[in-house]
Amino acid sequence: MSNDIIAAQNSEEVLDYLLKRRSVPVKQLGAPGPDEGQIKTILQAASRAPDHGKLCPWYFLVFSGEAREQVGEIIEWAWREQDNKAAPAKLELERERFMRAPVIVGVVSRIRKAKHPMWEQILSAGAVCQNLCLAANALGFGSNWVTEWYSYNESFRSELGLDEQDHIAGFIFLGTPAEQPAERDRPELNDLVTFWRPGTKVNKGDNYGHEGVGWPETGFDLKKQ
Ligand SMILES: Cc1cc2nc3c(=O)[nH]c(=O)nc-3n(C[C@H](O)[C@H](O)[C@H](O)COP(=O)(O)O)c2cc1C
Repeated sequence: MSNDIIAAQNSEEVLDYLLKRRSVPVKQLGAPGPDEGQIKTILQAASRAPDHGKLCPWYFLVFSGEAREQVGEIIEWAWREQDNKAAPAKLELERERFMRAPVIVGVVSRIRKAKHPMWEQILSAGAVCQNLCLAANALGFGSNWVTEWYSYNESFRSELGLDEQDHIAGFIFLGTPAEQPAERDRPELNDLVTFWRPGTKVNKGDNYGHEGVGWPETGFDLKKQ
């Protein structure tokens, strides 16, 4: 096996880190952020996420320096478009969204025409987001994967250059944590895990949903494109 590839390798450090990992509130991500070389390393790691069919059903948008102000102006404009009576303080909040961290990476899920289901292409984009966070954390940067309202706003999406088949999987905010984040409640594994046998009651974690379970009314067939 090539030394450049790790399929399995003992690493208490990696395990410890996965068992304790935590996102950092966006507002607490200060300078410095990753530099260009570090960003490339992070994206290299992100793009090693599992990808059924080698379709690369995702791409990256990197925002640093003044691009953060420029994208902030688009967010403000998109907000103004839907709320023309917005107070100046609200507009400022929207304009400043990308100023909260030194580097932000947008991961865009791009559905490729292929026999591989759309659902799997979207999942791959999610895996890219998490790999991206973990790689940034391993370089000593805090991360937070957010979407916020503008990820779903058509005007914003189109100003960024996205096409119809593109969806924002996440904006990953990266920077140096101002402080150690507090712990967050985690699920009880017993609620979510079943060592399956025929007829076993399956633990589906239904005590965690806020509104029960169900398919959205606008549901689409994830197996098809
Ligand atoms: C697809 C996706 C979108 C998210 N969007 C937001 C968001 O818009 N705002 C937010 O506060 N957290 C958002 N989160 C949650 C944070 O990324 C983070 O997981 C959460 O703050 C919990 O911290 P933890 O990662 O340490 O568990 C999102 C997570 C995912 C997977």
